[in-house]
Amino acid sequence: MTQNRICSLLGIRYPVIQAPMNWVSGAALAAAVSEAGGMGTLGPNSGADSIEPDAEKTAERMREQIQKVRSRTAKPFAVNVVVGFGEDLKYSQKIVDVLTEEKVPAAIVSVGRPDTYTETLKNAGIKVLHAISTARHAQKAQQAGVDAVICEGYEAGGHKGFTELTTFVLTPMVADAVDIPVVTGGGIGDARGVLAALALGADGIYMGSRFMATQESESHDNVKQAIVTAKDACTISLDKQFMIARDLNNTFAEQFREMRKSGATLEDLGKYLDEHGQYHAQHLGRAQDAEICCGQIAGLINDTPPAGELLRAVIADLENRFAELESRARQFTGSP
Ligand SMILES: Cc1cc2nc3c(=O)[nH]c(=O)nc-3n(C[C@H](O)[C@H](O)[C@H](O)COP(=O)(O)O)c2cc1C
Repeated sequence: MTQNRICSLLGIRYPVIQAPMNWVSGAALAAAVSEAGGMGTLGPNSGADSIEPDAEKTAERMREQIQKVRSRTAKPFAVNVVVGFGEDLKYSQKIVDVLTEEKVPAAIVSVGRPDTYTETLKNAGIKVLHAISTARHAQKAQQAGVDAVICEGYEAGGHKGFTELTTFVLTPMVADAVDIPVVTGGGIGDARGVLAALALGADGIYMGSRFMATQESESHDNVKQAIVTAKDACTISLDKQFMIARDLNNTFAEQFREMRKSGATLEDLGKYLDEHGQYHAQHLGRAQDAEICCGQIAGLINDTPPAGELLRAVIADLENRFAELESRARQFTGSP
């Protein structure tokens, strides 16, 4: 049997990547997912209990988290590099320095050009997976030499570009456009989503929001509870001027939308975000009046299991779902 391309690239058992999440995906979550056979990822502000403006200190906090993951598992894991633009590059450069010194197994690079750090990371022996939201961006990433691309569909939680391609159309477009392995995410939370992703041409899957509602996630219990109680159309896409963010639709999101509608200045919006940002929800537990980045899949999340258990349950359910799919496909075509 030919091995799955993501599994052979990363040296993991299941091609399931826990997506990086600011203030949420720390060492405990990353290690639990890696230990269960997927790939865990450290996100920005992992393990942190305060906002740190200094780039050097931020990077050193990440080094501690890397060491914590290593103390919990010998399996491969990844670290997020949020590239950014302009001033932000000083933060990402310091993170990249730590990643190369620590020789982490993989980097998930997002929000920025693929030619910024790919060569440096690869020269240090680090596998590079680059997050994209259009087929053109995926081709650019391939040209820059990344090892795999990660599609982030419109359903996904968190910040992304202004394109609104859903996972359903983005994934096959990207699978057709590049030769390197394709991981896809945005709206995946169970075995049905995994099968759909495979049908669309993905080699691996990327889950963020589903892992946010697990025991090991660093989200405050109030946030986990808000996700579990959220139903149906419970998220909204907010125009953050330079990006869009998919968030849980709470009073923060309502107020932010009102401010945008009434023409609030960038300064006012920035001040509002400083006082109601993700730290206030994820760390302090203000689940109503602070920002909770969250994907549409929240409407299908009803529990907060241990992350390893969740991963094993998704894998265990695949066989049944596949048999069901096969039978439906036969009924569809009328074949016996
Ligand atoms: C709470 C939260 C925080 C996030 N923070 C980041 C981040 O810091 N860096 C990043 O590259 N992506 C971030 N994302 C996006 C995820 O990595 C991923 O693209 C997304 O969760 C996948 O869609 P899903 O939420 O439907 O699973 C975040 C998502 C969530 C839900």
